[in-house]
Amino acid sequence: MLDSLRPKIKSIIHSNQEKDTKLQEICNLLQESVPHYDWVGFYFRNGDKEELKLGPYTGEPTDHTIIPFGKGICGQVAVSNENFVVPDVQAQDNYIACSLTVKSEIVVPLFVNGENIGQIDIDSNTPDPFTKEDERFLEFVNEELAKIMEH
Ligand code: SME
Repeated sequence: MLDSLRPKIKSIIHSNQEKDTKLQEICNLLQESVPHYDWVGFYFRNGDKEELKLGPYTGEPTDHTIIPFGKGICGQVAVSNENFVVPDVQAQDNYIACSLTVKSEIVVPLFVNGENIGQIDIDSNTPDPFTKEDERFLEFVNEELAKIMEH
């Protein structure tokens, strides 16, 4: 299922649109196409600051538009440079709740020339839905995006 989205991701990324429009279209496509993707968004490093800033997203608005490095799942990925799959958000100590309906989360970092410049963040209202297939697919999305991202 996720593999069938790969050509659509590529076509958005290579379309003739602004970068933020492409990011928004990717959020929309993922949220509409994958039943367990309820909130899909991008966070990027905020200039030289040790914090993340919310970019394009699809889903409920969140108060967490700025997240310091180290805080929450997103802030931890900014520091660890590794995927973070959370089957049960309530079992996490260092977690920032955006909505009470969220049960699980996946965050995959986005590297440009080896530098962690941001991440894709997905919240799910389904408990423990994320597999290696999600990780490989979201790594693909970020690798494709890296081709058009500056740092
Ligand atoms: N849950 C995230 C915060 C971002 S929201 O999911 C949109 C975290 O713990 O970092």
